[in-house]
Amino acid sequence: MGIFNALTLSSQPLSTNPMPKKLGHCTNSIRLHWEMATAGKVIKCRAAVAWEPNVPLIMEEIEVAPPQESEIRIKVVVTSVCHTDLYHLFEGKDKRGFPTVLGHEGAGVVESVGPGVTDFKTGDKVIPLFLSQCGKCRFCKCPKTNLCDSSWSTKYHDTMADPSTRLTCRGQPILQFMGTSTFSEYTVINQFAVAKIDDNAPLDRVCLLGCGITTGYGAAVNTAGVTPGSVCAVFGMGAVGLAAVMGCKNAGASRIFAVDINEQKFEKAKVFGATDFLNPKAYNKPISEVLAELTNGGVDYSLECVGNTEVMRTALESCVKGWGVSVLVGWTDVKDFSARPIQLLSGKTWKGSLFGGYKSKDSVPNLVCDYMNGKIKLDEFITHKMNIEQVNDAINLMKTGECIRCVLNISK
Ligand SMILES: NC(=O)c1ccc[n+]([C@@H]2O[C@H](COP(=O)([O-])OP(=O)(O)OC[C@H]3O[C@@H](n4cnc5c(N)ncnc54)[C@H](O)[C@@H]3O)[C@@H](O)[C@H]2O)c1
Ligand SMILES: [Zn+2]
Ligand SMILES: [Zn+2]
Repeated sequence: MGIFNALTLSSQPLSTNPMPKKLGHCTNSIRLHWEMATAGKVIKCRAAVAWEPNVPLIMEEIEVAPPQESEIRIKVVVTSVCHTDLYHLFEGKDKRGFPTVLGHEGAGVVESVGPGVTDFKTGDKVIPLFLSQCGKCRFCKCPKTNLCDSSWSTKYHDTMADPSTRLTCRGQPILQFMGTSTFSEYTVINQFAVAKIDDNAPLDRVCLLGCGITTGYGAAVNTAGVTPGSVCAVFGMGAVGLAAVMGCKNAGASRIFAVDINEQKFEKAKVFGATDFLNPKAYNKPISEVLAELTNGGVDYSLECVGNTEVMRTALESCVKGWGVSVLVGWTDVKDFSARPIQLLSGKTWKGSLFGGYKSKDSVPNLVCDYMNGKIKLDEFITHKMNIEQVNDAINLMKTGECIRCVLNISK
């Protein structure tokens, strides 16, 4: 499958980024332009199919249709697992969102492009985006938001998938989870939901920028707007929370509290810049009171990176009155949340953040360069590496809290 049959050379425009300090690569380069034997044909390939909620994924042979108008077909090289995949499988459990191919934190190479595609060509390195940027809708045109009206989530938020899928298995359409479906050797996505990245980017690490790291980092630097010298608290030390800690640190926070019920996460939190570590289970009073005592009335910024409505309330209550800002990052849509109005009357701000507030298609290539230039960490999030066949093991490791990010190889 996916045999490269011809090789031509083309050149890439000069990058405006400074010379890299870390990997020494995010610059202009001569690139290889591959022509694929599979262009225009249905591809049969392997994918991990979630047939229904709450059951293990099954490796199946699926068919992937050629890309249609404005779409590109991507050979997925690597993917990692994010808690939102687990949310769909075990917590959201909306049967209308199945059967599906999960996975939305991947990276790969363009196999072929459909009619009208202007932004990509075969051989480009890419990151699929669960949040699109069409550049034309009222949201894309507004600098105040990173939402896009062309995204699958505008119409199909409840089912977490767009029914206009290009994937089939055993004669049935298979939904593309979050419009991406990276637990598959190939997938088809509209060009407005794909970022073209540097030719030298290591796909097995920059795939993390397709969701978790961009989300947590941006929630701190963009949505919260953490300021130098401030005191922050991040709830939940998964990859999203750790990335939020990294954002607080890079924004110049002087003190960063890492809050988690799993103390094994604290060692990693230190690596990303956390200065203080709190396990709410170790106290016989609310952790918001503990934080208030330790910070003379509460933190300047708090970020909820768990996906639990009780923790969302606690994070708000942990902020200082007058100017405290609390940001919801954790994903849940199964319960309402509540808070006492005085929390907001007293001058606190409660906000939410999707994909870290980043306009996706514009920002992900820059974040790839930030990694290659040593400005942000990615390697430290990766605790496990496996093959796609072991996807259920990777999911279990996330579930039991043993893993921060597991990168799964899909194809060479
Ligand atoms: N807003 C977005 O755009 C977006 C994007 C990606 C992920 N998410 C969401 O972010 C959340 C985190 O994702 P992740 O991949 O880092 O998940 P994860 O499962 O790896 O990490 C969650 C962490 O929260 C901790 N935790 C659980 N209960 C807690 C509690 N009561 N108090 C403190 N800590 C607690 C766990 O021990 C774990 O370390 C999920 O809800 C995910 O769906 C949101
Ligand atoms: Zn995610
Ligand atoms: Zn748009």
